[in-house]
Amino acid sequence: MTNSPIDPVSSDSATIEALLFEDRRFPPPAAFKAASLASGNELYDAADKDLESFWADQAAELLTWSRNWDTVLEWDLPFAKWFVGGQLNVSENCLDRHVEAGKGDKVAFHWEGEPGDTRTITYAELLDEVCRFANVLKDLGVRKGDRVNIYMPMIPELAVAMLACTRIGAPHSVVFGGFSADALADRINDAQAKVLITADGGWRRGAAVPLKINADVALVDTPSIEHVVVVRRTGTDVHMETGRDQWYHDLMSMVSADCPPEPMDSEDLLYLLYTSGTTAKPKGIMHTTGGYLTQVAFTHKYVFDLKPETDIYWCAADIGWVTGHSYIVYGPLANGATSVMYEGTPDHPGKDRFWDIIERYKVTILYTAPTAIRTFMKWGVQEPERHDLSSLRLLGSVGEPINPEAWMWYHEHIGGSRCPIVDTWWQTETGAMMIAPLPGSTTLKPGSATFPLPGIGAELVDDQGARVENGGGYLTLTQPWPSMLRGIYGDPERYRETYWSRFPGRYFAGDGAKLDDDGYLWLLGRVDDVMNVSGHRVSTTEVESALVDHQKVAEAAVVGAKDETTGQAIVAFVTLKGDQKASDELGQELRGHVAKKIGAISRPRTIVFTEDLPKTRSGKIMRRLLRDVAEGRDLGDTTTLADASVVEEIRRRADAAPQED
Ligand code: WTA
Repeated sequence: MTNSPIDPVSSDSATIEALLFEDRRFPPPAAFKAASLASGNELYDAADKDLESFWADQAAELLTWSRNWDTVLEWDLPFAKWFVGGQLNVSENCLDRHVEAGKGDKVAFHWEGEPGDTRTITYAELLDEVCRFANVLKDLGVRKGDRVNIYMPMIPELAVAMLACTRIGAPHSVVFGGFSADALADRINDAQAKVLITADGGWRRGAAVPLKINADVALVDTPSIEHVVVVRRTGTDVHMETGRDQWYHDLMSMVSADCPPEPMDSEDLLYLLYTSGTTAKPKGIMHTTGGYLTQVAFTHKYVFDLKPETDIYWCAADIGWVTGHSYIVYGPLANGATSVMYEGTPDHPGKDRFWDIIERYKVTILYTAPTAIRTFMKWGVQEPERHDLSSLRLLGSVGEPINPEAWMWYHEHIGGSRCPIVDTWWQTETGAMMIAPLPGSTTLKPGSATFPLPGIGAELVDDQGARVENGGGYLTLTQPWPSMLRGIYGDPERYRETYWSRFPGRYFAGDGAKLDDDGYLWLLGRVDDVMNVSGHRVSTTEVESALVDHQKVAEAAVVGAKDETTGQAIVAFVTLKGDQKASDELGQELRGHVAKKIGAISRPRTIVFTEDLPKTRSGKIMRRLLRDVAEGRDLGDTTTLADASVVEEIRRRADAAPQED
């Protein structure tokens, strides 16, 4: 852990100091509390009393099972099985049972495309489309257990595709539409997917993102793919490979809407979702069926205090990330909620698009990321002020630490000082929220995710693994939870090594945190070589390997430097091969190369060319030192450097390097 961007255990960190001075308190407003689903300690007490019966009660109350489980939990550290022997189908839980309960005409999604086109989709309509598409998949030869890849824009067909997979028991692997062809190919190959579902393109900031063109490049190297289904969205001209590629609308016109849900075992694989780790190879995080849906439904209901009959809920994430899986698709649909789903960016056509959407649909609950909030702050209060946001009653935050200043702005200018804010800490690996307030019960402090949710055990430890009860430490989880990852696809050893080896008996999240005198948790950011750029995880190693993949690059070291808007920004220190000359053009070329290899979110903000990189005597690149340089801090002790003069040179060049937004 010598490369930690932050040292949560030392008490002199500037972040910890700043947070210590945060003494504002926001108890639940009386009216909110009175009407809330959980205003006291009942859920916490029930979970404390008996963890397994607490989760069993939630599973029974929130979901419909076609066969009851025999055992609530089998825990053979680090492998958990929840609701063993139980059977259920996710699409049935998300759709059929609501329709059967007479809610077929209730709106599941108010969908809005970026150009302004809209679709209103009821539960009955969604069920019909999901059943049809499940039949399409069956006709294409997809069987229970086969992996299906999905690479799509934020259109309703994306949710349809996921739910259709769950209906027939085919695990899906959604790849975010911003990822490159190479990244898509890697993920398809790792999952050995049989079918790819994509679209001609999607709208983003007024332009069509060429998804099918990217997919075509990926498909050259993905021998497992037998069929490609293409949704027409942008109308862009695309190549359709005979015998392999077919249009979604053609296939859908040929099938019936009768497709009984496949009963799945609670522990059957529901989906894979790839996330960046500390090596160059992304990890296929495995989530299974019963436990995942239980905790996602539970947290969506209680953390958002959901009243499905009256709330209009909007999670502004992309379904390509775990937030969208759990809180656009599975949680809200399992709970019978009415959601808004939006295709595009917040600044198209104007910087008030979000506020316009909230006003028109009368959104009551908004869930977004601190990066977005800080961007809105930069754009100015005149944007939200032009709209009536009085329908909002609760706000949520996810993806990165929210600084008290952004929290206060969100509270005041979006929430009209009346809406509680739920800051929710969790990860792709945890599947669902882990540390968050219950808004009718918890007194909030701006910038703190407050306490572990009922049924969740979280503790801080120091370097030696000893428990920290006050002050900074490494965040660990102490007991299994229903929606926990079941492993890394195809690599059980890496699963054990990554999460369960650093602190024996504990899940190590990779985050640093601080516990204050009142027992509130304050998340401080990653302590490993993972960056958090606009709430998205980017691996330093992955960006480094993309850089050295360029023929002119000899060596590269990448760090995440503090950035006012995006949380962290990617700064790359690059040494060139002998005969190569540094130039702004080459910097641009390298930035473009990384975007092409991984995706635009991984494009470095700054490239610093340097003759050499600071290394320890054992040859390990000193990222912490580079981070100091990138953030313009004092360098501190450099005596472990192979060549101390390198640092001065790097600092000089970092000061001169052009920066990009
Ligand atoms: C960070 C996103 C502070 C954290 C759901 C974690 C947060 C990583 C918060 C997971 C929060 C997420 N406060 N940090 N409320 N939420 N993080 O897998 O570093 O994309 O480890 O899941 O984001 O990112 P992931």
